[in-house]
Amino acid sequence: MSIPFPFADRLKMPLIVAPMFLVSNPKMAVAACRAGVIGSYPAHSTRTKEVYEEWLYESEEALAVSENNGEKPAPLAVNLVVHSSNARMEGDLEITIRHKVPIVLTSKGAPEEVFKEIHNYGGVTMHDVASARHAEKAVAAGADALIAVAGGAGGHCGTINPFALVNEIRQVTDKPIILAGGMSSGQDVLAAEAMGASMVYMGTRFIATEESLAPSDYRDSLIEGKATDIFLSAALDGAPANWYAPSLVKAGIDLEELAMTKPGAIVTSSGQSKQRYKAIWSAGHGIGATKSVQKTADLCEQLILEYEQARTQFVGSIA
Ligand SMILES: Cc1cc2nc3c(=O)[nH]c(=O)nc-3n(C[C@H](O)[C@H](O)[C@H](O)COP(=O)(O)O)c2cc1C
Repeated sequence: MSIPFPFADRLKMPLIVAPMFLVSNPKMAVAACRAGVIGSYPAHSTRTKEVYEEWLYESEEALAVSENNGEKPAPLAVNLVVHSSNARMEGDLEITIRHKVPIVLTSKGAPEEVFKEIHNYGGVTMHDVASARHAEKAVAAGADALIAVAGGAGGHCGTINPFALVNEIRQVTDKPIILAGGMSSGQDVLAAEAMGASMVYMGTRFIATEESLAPSDYRDSLIEGKATDIFLSAALDGAPANWYAPSLVKAGIDLEELAMTKPGAIVTSSGQSKQRYKAIWSAGHGIGATKSVQKTADLCEQLILEYEQARTQFVGSIA
């Protein structure tokens, strides 16, 4: 494992527990950091910027206690939507800078000024990309690393196969790549490193954790889920996203009709559609690995063990 960041010695494996809207929270993030992998949450998962700041205080205090107890927690990351369409961007960014959040996972747009402000306090910026063109723009704007969101990822996803995406990004930059999409085991993380990624971003695997904000029926239903239950559609809010099909059906959405619906046609910013948005759930192709609801710390420990075993086996097999 060779992680090209100053915090590498705090990680037990090259993994970021990805930020998930209405799923991640400080408890999940801190549990991940204490277990030796990067934990995160989206600022926009909170109702207001004041609540976002409360989340940061809660996380910082818990990590300080961990440090005082002789642990060496991994750094915290937050996700900011750095696009002018995000009305909260300025306030959330100001709070992020004031708290000197060590890692900022940025999505949408790629504003140079934002990256500069984060760099000024020593923060690391990792920007979501779904194509080589996005990667070029992010690198030109000064991002430190690229989160390559491939097809099969949960939430707003890419559509490109991970091998093809990593290969194309490598043609435009040698910045570190964090690969996202469909990975769910320690072995998968090793495979991503073999492909040329420096780290892995795992979301879906962590929805069914005890700390998760996901409602219990969401968490429990994932245990039944398989990759074939994942439905890709841009119709709901305009951007391609992977949805858990049984939740769409339960919400009264006809899948055949959805497949024919134009991007953004179903969910708009109106209050009524937001209500509907809450009742439908997202997950990625890695859903089949979820077999029970686990503590975040136990899941991290399992992934670290799988990763170490996979490394040993792989080294043995090529020796
Ligand atoms: C329920 C859910 C919510 C998500 N919300 C966000 C978000 O708010 N911001 C973001 O950058 N990515 C979000 N994502 C994407 C994840 O950060 C990550 O890219 C993805 O989960 C990785 O793929 P995987 O789910 O196959 O592991 C979300 C993913 C899921 C499953």
